[in-house]
Amino acid sequence: MILINGESKEHIEVSDRGLQYGDGLFETIAVKSGQAQFLDRHLQRLNAGCSRLLISPPDNKLLKNEVASLANQADRAVVKIIVTRGTGGRGYRQPDVVKPTRIVSLHPYPDYPNSYQQQGIHVRFCATRLGLNPTLAGIKHLNRLEQVLARAEWHDPMIQEGIMLDIDGYVVEGTMTNLFFVKNEALYTASLEKAGVAGIIRGVVMEQAALHGIKIFEGRVSRDDLLSADELFVCNSVIGIWPVRQIEHQQFLVGPLTRQFQHWLEHFEDKGVQNEQ
Ligand SMILES: Cc1ncc(COP(=O)(O)O)c(C=O)c1O
Repeated sequence: MILINGESKEHIEVSDRGLQYGDGLFETIAVKSGQAQFLDRHLQRLNAGCSRLLISPPDNKLLKNEVASLANQADRAVVKIIVTRGTGGRGYRQPDVVKPTRIVSLHPYPDYPNSYQQQGIHVRFCATRLGLNPTLAGIKHLNRLEQVLARAEWHDPMIQEGIMLDIDGYVVEGTMTNLFFVKNEALYTASLEKAGVAGIIRGVVMEQAALHGIKIFEGRVSRDDLLSADELFVCNSVIGIWPVRQIEHQQFLVGPLTRQFQHWLEHFEDKGVQNEQ
């Protein structure tokens, strides 16, 4: 099921700038018991992205209703929102008047085995590097070629995620996840000022850490930091939190803080966000 600007249809214009230039943003939202999870947070990131890219933000009430109308149809699913700048302009210059395209679609929930949550996953380091770009860092824009190339690097079904470094060799995130590690009971994650997506679940993990008095450090993370960590986990809106059991040949235990964050996330009561538009 797909809604394009509120109408049930399956095709967009070839001249849409989302297709032509990746000129837009997206959100991938988990649905549980017919409810879109962390919807206000997703809309807040989408609005922030629109403001960074100078795209007029969609009417949030309308969008919420559209998301709800699709989410209601499923027990466990994924809803994807895409907002592009709209159609027009053969070159990069946008037309003087441009109306954003709003696409909301419903997808089956991926069939991940329970063991990924329980026993953890194996990951690898990717050779594809993330460029540094403060203008685009943090937002979930449609240009995902680095992730596409990184994900094409491996076919081994025993490896569930790839870790991406930036062009200076620092760890940023997974191909589709944010990454945390625990060392001496403190939590560490990469700063996303120059590369990476500021994930919704990353935000929730950091809030929970602050709430429970767990020290959290956001900064430069090296490969060696990861390899000498006590615990490691990756997270995103669809998978929640997956512990990392192995990076290449280095093994890790699924530690108590990872379990604690899984528990907090599972029982998190989303009170929405302030300053909603
Ligand atoms: C590159 C990348 N980083 C991080 C994330 C995690 O974001 P979120 O927690 O909002 O799902 C994603 C999610 O798809 C992603 O594609």
